[in-house]
Amino acid sequence: GYPQCLTITVLGASGDLARKKTYPALFSLWKAGHVPFNTKILGYARSKLELDEFKGKIRLFLKDSSNEKIEHFLSICDYVQGEYSSIEEGPPCFSGLNEVIEQLEREVEVNWKENAFITPSTSAAENKKYKRVVGNRIFYLALPPVVYPSVCAEIKASAMSSTKGSWTRVVVEKPFGKDLESSEKLNQSLSALFSEEQLYRIDHYLGKELVQNLVVMRFANRFISPLWNRDNIANVQIIFKEPFGTEGRGGYFDDYGIIRDVIQNHLLQIMCLVAMEKPCSLSPDDIRDEKLKVLRCIAPVSTDNVVVGQYSTGPHGQPAYVDDPGVPENSMAPTFCTCVMYVKNERWDGVPFIIKAGKALNEAKCEIRVQFKDVPGDLFESRRVQGKQARNEFVVRLQPDPTIFMKMTVKEPGLDMNLAQSELELLYTTRYQRVAIPEAYERLILDCINGDQQHFVRRDELVAAWTIFTPLLKYIDAGGMKPYPYPYGSVGPYEANALRERVGHQTNVIGRDITWEKH
Ligand code: BG6
Repeated sequence: GYPQCLTITVLGASGDLARKKTYPALFSLWKAGHVPFNTKILGYARSKLELDEFKGKIRLFLKDSSNEKIEHFLSICDYVQGEYSSIEEGPPCFSGLNEVIEQLEREVEVNWKENAFITPSTSAAENKKYKRVVGNRIFYLALPPVVYPSVCAEIKASAMSSTKGSWTRVVVEKPFGKDLESSEKLNQSLSALFSEEQLYRIDHYLGKELVQNLVVMRFANRFISPLWNRDNIANVQIIFKEPFGTEGRGGYFDDYGIIRDVIQNHLLQIMCLVAMEKPCSLSPDDIRDEKLKVLRCIAPVSTDNVVVGQYSTGPHGQPAYVDDPGVPENSMAPTFCTCVMYVKNERWDGVPFIIKAGKALNEAKCEIRVQFKDVPGDLFESRRVQGKQARNEFVVRLQPDPTIFMKMTVKEPGLDMNLAQSELELLYTTRYQRVAIPEAYERLILDCINGDQQHFVRRDELVAAWTIFTPLLKYIDAGGMKPYPYPYGSVGPYEANALRERVGHQTNVIGRDITWEKH
């Protein structure tokens, strides 16, 4: 067939996201042979950098490989310096970039032709049929969203692939707006230029191993599916904890806050996968249709069901949020939030989904905890020290150590008939010792190369997600909710736990009959 060439253009190539995430992911994919043979990676940015200087910046984040491998990878990387919007009367700002891409595509054609001539089965006449190379193009916008509309307009004007049978895909990163209106405005300007099939809205949590496992766990295990509903489940927690503060990102963060930063996107996407019905098939749209239905069954978050916090100085001299450069002294931006949502459908009516997210907490952890209801007709009441049953929990820990475990009540080993809570545990580092778990970005970029949009956010999902949070965000932005202070390195404000208990979560009691140290 036609010779194929893929060009991945990383816009904003000298920025943090590109250097720390995009390039290392591309490197891993390239090393494992997952990118097409004729792939070229073009870095594009405004900085005037010599190619070697640029490669030096990229090299810093390429790890776990021989120098030779790294050099080989860097040999498919190039750098183009330029602007992100055209000056009136001047040439379109991406025309230079387009020329570079076309040149790369021509080189593939030349090489291919030369190779074709030396293949005994290919005659010169046959070869003439193949006029041009199929030049597929990915534009990865590692840029602030304010420039998306103009950058996309420039791509559309002068850098689209034009050969028959080829495609152009555009990858964009969150934040996709700040609320429903601004997000829709952004969507409108992008969808005037590209179809939904060409747009890849990344939510990198969808690329995490255990997030991807949710669909399998839920729908391929007979012992899970019949229990997964309001009859058996008391509450679901989705917890995101980071042990560090905004650390220099305060300028960005202050405009967004924790709800926009991780809850409206990452954690809500996880919630959809936990709550959705079984899709008709594994096709990307069938899955996204089911996620959308969940979002549409969630009412906008009520302010009664929210506790927000902001970190203050810690006991070991850790700085307060407001000490971060770029954060106003009187900032009310939440760096912590617990909120409770309900999915009003037949499966989940009345079951609280408790989302908790915070920066500068006591540990790094992201997990989903599904807490089951008490066992009716309790046989062991008289044997409990503290009265309450220890509840079963099904826990999916995304990070730091990917683990799936269930908390189960068993007989404490020994002569007495005492109860203990124990774990059935699948720890990935022990069970899958020889498997390297791919980084989220690797998987998502590969999906984009393969044209699989399952793990990318569709426009209607985004609209539904913002609909849930916009009234709350407006209320908070208008100063309606003062964040509770919590010390850097703590578990967050006490009020958050009180809210969790109020909606029916039960902290498993530490009594003689329950071992609780481990998890
Ligand atoms: C980003 C947020 O989307 O996700 C950051 O902007 C957050 O504030 C990060 O730290 C967490 O991602 P991960 O993969 O490190 O858990």
